[in-house]
This record gives sequence, structure tokens and C-alpha cells, in this order.
Amino acid sequence: MKITPEIEERLRLLDEKYAASGQDLVSYLDGLLYEDYLKYWHYIELDTLLSLQKPRTNFPDEEIFIIYHQITELYFKLTLNEMCNLSKRNDFGSAFFLERIERIVRYFQALISSFEVMVNGMDTKEFMKFRMALLPASGFQSAQYRKIEILSTRLNNLVDLAHREEFINSENIEEVYAHIYWKRGAIDLKSGKKTLTLLQFEERYDKELSEYAARIKGATLWDKFKMLPETDQENKLIIETLRKFDLCVNVDWPLAHYKSAVRYLHSKSGDVEATGGTNWQKYLPPRFQKRIFFPELWSEDEQENWGRAWVEEALKEVALTKNPHAE
Ligand code: HEM
Repeated sequence: MKITPEIEERLRLLDEKYAASGQDLVSYLDGLLYEDYLKYWHYIELDTLLSLQKPRTNFPDEEIFIIYHQITELYFKLTLNEMCNLSKRNDFGSAFFLERIERIVRYFQALISSFEVMVNGMDTKEFMKFRMALLPASGFQSAQYRKIEILSTRLNNLVDLAHREEFINSENIEEVYAHIYWKRGAIDLKSGKKTLTLLQFEERYDKELSEYAARIKGATLWDKFKMLPETDQENKLIIETLRKFDLCVNVDWPLAHYKSAVRYLHSKSGDVEATGGTNWQKYLPPRFQKRIFFPELWSEDEQENWGRAWVEEALKEVALTKNPHAE
């Protein structure tokens, strides 16, 4: 074999690399010699991935429900990767910031446009049965979803709407965290008690999430935006992209999700209780919660009418799916 100048150069660079950490190049070349070729299915851990669906009933459609939740959690992970990266860094310019927000928007758009897999993709009779085997678990207990919210905005903006004004300027993270909307949303209105779904979520994640919120204070997406040069904070494209992100997470995704709750849990003879036990008709629609990550980027009128038009449209669509001859 001919040792070309290219090979010689690579050997020299490798020798430098290993010598820098006191390693012996020849031993590593031996490793290369004995190593097997990388295979696609090993690299992406395909067998493990495909073994992670463990239905609790024999209804075939339960697997659709599990897989689509898993797909969503993976997109949440992609989102969090970008957000954590931005949160940790202070050395980026506006172009980088914009590019990363655009990535996140793309992930959420993929989730929003694929939610039909849930809304129209399961047999209602099967769903109504297998869901009973899942009590009291609920997507409500998605910690990644909560982390996305915490990383996006000042925690004060996540306080339950009824108390938001009261805590809007509080710097006490513990106090603000205690009034976060999801805790309020999972209190049984009649008894005033927390639902089991919330109690279990708190036991598993409360400490982790409140500490996380304290750590992230001052390094949320909003804080990073405010660190950009002032002229860039006026940049239309950046503002539009942040607004798009706000709408994706706080209106379009919740609405796509709400459609599935309406589709399966709403009935003329009386709505079905959710597995997490919230008053879902009031808890899920964006217009009641008015969660807004970046209120500074919306007019008062836009905030006042948050999510209103979308919900009305959705209810019309669902009515049409159930009865195509309505209207
Ligand atoms: C047929 C499909 C679905 C139905 C009927 C449904 C229903 C519900 C209901 C009723 C709630 C309110 C909490 C409760 O009382 O349980 C909820 C919350 C939630 N679900 Fe789903 N869900 C569905 C699919 C999904 C999927 C695929 C995900 C993806 C991870 C998901 C994630 C969430 C999240 C993050 C919350 C909390 C939302 C918030 O706090 O505003 N859900 N779901």
C-alpha cells in the first residue's frame, strides 16, 4: 500500500491528538482495525426504540396513542435542546438567535399539523375503553412540556390568570411557582382538593421543576431576546418569529390538542371525565388560560382576544367531522 501525503498528514494529526492526552496512537489504530462497521439499526438503537411501546390492553389502537405521545415527547426534547443551548450561551448574535427560534417553531408546526393522528386516527369505541386502563395518568404530567414553558418566559407569566396581576412583579420564585396555572387547573372544584394526577406529578417533579425555574431565572428565551442589541430587538423578523412561537405553544398546539379532547370526551348527553380529572372544558382552551410568553409583543386587544377565534373555528370543524351534513 502506498502511504500518500494525505494519509501521512492524517497520521501526523492523529498522533498529535492522542499525544496531547498522553495516549498511544498505535493502540487506537488497533482499535480501528478490530472494530466492526457501524450499522444504522445500532446507531439509532432501533430495537430498543421499537420495544418501548407497552400497551396495557389488547386494543390495537392503544399503540397509536402511545407512539404519538412518544413522538411528541421527542419533539419536545428537540425543542428543549435548542432552548437549553440558547439559555446557557451569551456569545451569540441576532442571526443565530433567529435561526434557533425558527428551528423550534418548525418542531411545533410539525406537531400541530400531525395532531390529526390523534383527533381522527383512533377508533372511538376502543379509545373509550383503553383510556380507563390509564387512569390517573395524563399528558398533564409531561415534565418536558412544563420545562419548555419555564424556559420560554418569566415564571410570573405562567401564574394562573386569576392571580397573575397579583404576582406579576414578584421576584420570589417559590411563591410564584406555587401559583402556577397547572396547579390551580388540577384542583377539584367541588372538593377543593388536588387531583391524584397533580399530587403524583408534584411528588415526582415539584422539587426538580421549582429548582429548575430558579436556575433559569434571568436566562429564559425572553431574557436572551432582551440581551440582543436594541436595534435587533426592533427587528420585524425576530419579533414575528417570537410571536409565531408564542402562538404555536400557547394557541395552536393547545387547540389541536383540545380538538382531540372534544372529539373523544364531548358528548351531547354529558361530557366524559378526563383521566387527569381536570375540568378540561375550562382548563384546555387557550382563551380561558390566556397563557402568553411574550405579552410585551402583543397589543392589549390581541391579548384580550387570545385564542378566541381559533376555538370557535375548531368547534365548527369537529361538529362537521361528526356530522358532515351540518351547516
Ligand atoms: C385523544 C388524545 C388526547 C386526549 C383526549 C387528551 C386529553 C387531555 C385532557 C382532558 C387534559 C387535561 C388534563 C386532564 O384532566 O387529564 C390533557 C392535558 C394534557 N395533555 Fe392531553 N390528550 C390527548 C393527547 C395528548 C397527546 C398526544 C399529548 C402529547 C404529549 C398530550 C399532552 C398533554 C399535555 C402536555 C397536557 C397538559 C396541558 C396543559 O396543562 O395545558 N395529550 N389532555
